[in-house]
Formats: sequence, structure tokens, C-alpha cells
Amino acid sequence: MSEFSGKTAVISGGAEGIGLSIAMALGLQGMQIVLGDIDTQQLAKAEQALQDAGISVLAVPLDVTKPEQWQALAEQASAHFGKLHMLVNNAGVGGGTGTIEQIDNNEWRWTMDVNLMGVLYGTQTLVPLIKQHGEGGWLLNVASMAGMGGVPYGGAYTASKVAVVGMSESWQVELKPHNIHVAVLCPAFVKTRINLAARNKQANYRGDKPTGPMTEQQKAMAAKMQQIIDNGIPVEVVGQRVVEALNAKELYIFTHPSYRAVTQARAQAIDDAFARAAESPLLADFRDQDIVFFG
Ligand SMILES: NC(=O)c1ccc[n+]([C@@H]2O[C@H](COP(=O)([O-])OP(=O)(O)OC[C@H]3O[C@@H](n4cnc5c(N)ncnc54)[C@H](O)[C@@H]3O)[C@@H](O)[C@H]2O)c1
Repeated sequence: MSEFSGKTAVISGGAEGIGLSIAMALGLQGMQIVLGDIDTQQLAKAEQALQDAGISVLAVPLDVTKPEQWQALAEQASAHFGKLHMLVNNAGVGGGTGTIEQIDNNEWRWTMDVNLMGVLYGTQTLVPLIKQHGEGGWLLNVASMAGMGGVPYGGAYTASKVAVVGMSESWQVELKPHNIHVAVLCPAFVKTRINLAARNKQANYRGDKPTGPMTEQQKAMAAKMQQIIDNGIPVEVVGQRVVEALNAKELYIFTHPSYRAVTQARAQAIDDAFARAAESPLLADFRDQDIVFFG
């Protein structure tokens, strides 16, 4: 029997894409699934798809930027399934692409509120409930390869995903004594509708000015992004990969082996910069400082 069997997972942004793929994979391992999503039409379809696959499911409307909606979801989930064992903070939006001047502050706020604060609110609401029953569990945060290094012209998305990687590394240590395994999923491109994330953008992030028709440059960028996403890996494999990596107690979950070169180049650049710092006469007296907190 799988270690997931009979336990309950809450998955934000579970109505489609990577969240639904994870829901399906965990459900087929015998987990009971709570899906939360802002898109209630897609949510109903996802609920049906899981039911058709013989999975026990509860679907709850959820905007991850609203702590009170997380609270309501937690209450409904506990009333329905009892103990909760896993939180998958998956809901996320693509944010804007462009130069510093082009990504406006509404876009920044939307990206940070969904991708970063949404993860925080979910964790603040659900992790105490997982701790409470003492059986342990899992916290899986969905970041991105953008969390492993700066993506040019994607400042807001990068900032949010680097934060999610950092929060996961921090919480991994904190939650270990509670037998809660923390993992962070870092995919590169996956065939979903992430490039059309603005379809679910809440009114308060849309700004006052009516948006005019797309410029030729914006149209070209949208077409390029569609092509990149269309060449992404199939979404179904991501959920299965998550199950495999959670079984192996991985902290970082990768789905695109070729992107190893990206993290290797970054680690090398950082290491080279440390080597130069070690040579600096300005720092000669501080070479043997104790390392605190990291370890
Ligand atoms: N697709 C990729 O190439 C890719 C790559 C790396 C990381 N990711 C990450 O994977 C996660 C899932 O994205 P996806 O690719 O499946 O995209 P998607 O657009 O197919 O699915 C995202 C889901 O999140 C929901 N959502 C959006 N805003 C929400 C909110 N405020 N509250 C609740 N639900 C909300 C959407 O309704 C949708 O069901 C995101 O965190 C994304 O950043 C995706």
C-alpha cells in the first residue's frame, strides 16, 4: 500500500494544468483530494474528472490571495475528510513579461499576491492543522525553474518564484521535527494555459485604464510564448514525477533534466565570485568568520 493511501491532500489551483495533474496522480495513489480554484467552471470539470477516475474529491472555490477563503476551505475540508495531511501550493500566474518600465505595479502586485502571498496564506492556514494530528505529512510548493535564477524580462515572476524556493528551504528545516516533508517543484515549460493566466485576473489588479488592443510587439511576444508552451512537456507526466520524487523524499523536484546546466552555471558563477571575495585584501581579516544559520 502506498504511504499516501487514505490520507488527504489540499491542492490550490487544482482545476487544471499542473495542479490537476498532481491531484490525479495523488488520487490514484489512494489520496482523498480537496481542490481549490478561482475558476469555478473549470473546478466543476476537474471534480468530475477525478470522480470518473474513482477518486474521492471535494471542490471548493478559492482565491489564494484571500486568507478568509483559505480558512473557509480548511473548515470544509476538515468537516468532509477529517485529518488533512498534505498541502500543495500550486496556484500561480505567469505575471507580465517586459522591461522594468513595461511591467506595471498592478501586474507586480497580482503576481506577488498570487504566487507568493497565496503560498504564505495557504501554509499559515493548513500547516497548523497538519501539525495538530501528529501523524506528519507533506508541504509541496510549486515554484519554477524561474526560482533557480533570474529570467530576463520576467522580473515579477522570477521574484515570486525565487521567494517560493527560499520559503521552502526555510520551512524544510522548521517542519522536519513535525515529520512534515517539504518539497519545491521547479518545472521549466509544461503544456498548460499558464501563458493565458490573465483569464482569471481579479478585477482589483486590472487597473483603472481600459486596456487597448495589443500592439504588434505584444502580439509577437504572445505568439512566441504560445509556441514555447506548446513545446513544453505534457502535463500528465508532472503529477507522476511529483509522486516519484515525494516517495524519494526530495526537497527540489525537477522535471526537465537538461536545465541542470542552468543551475550548474549559476552555482559556478557564485562560487567564482566567492573565490574573488576570498582574494580581496579588504576582507583578509574576515576569512574565518563562523557560519551562522546556514548548515
Ligand atoms: N506551465 C509551465 O510551464 C510552468 C512552469 C513552471 C512553473 N509553473 C507553475 O505551475 C503552477 C500551475 O500553473 P499551470 O502551468 O498549471 O497553469 P494553469 O494556468 O494551467 O493553471 C493554474 C491554475 O491556477 C488557478 N488560479 C489562478 N489564480 C488563482 C487564484 N488567485 N486563486 C486560486 N486559483 C488560481 C487557475 O484558475 C488555474 O486553474 C503555477 O504556480 C506556475 O507558476 C508552470
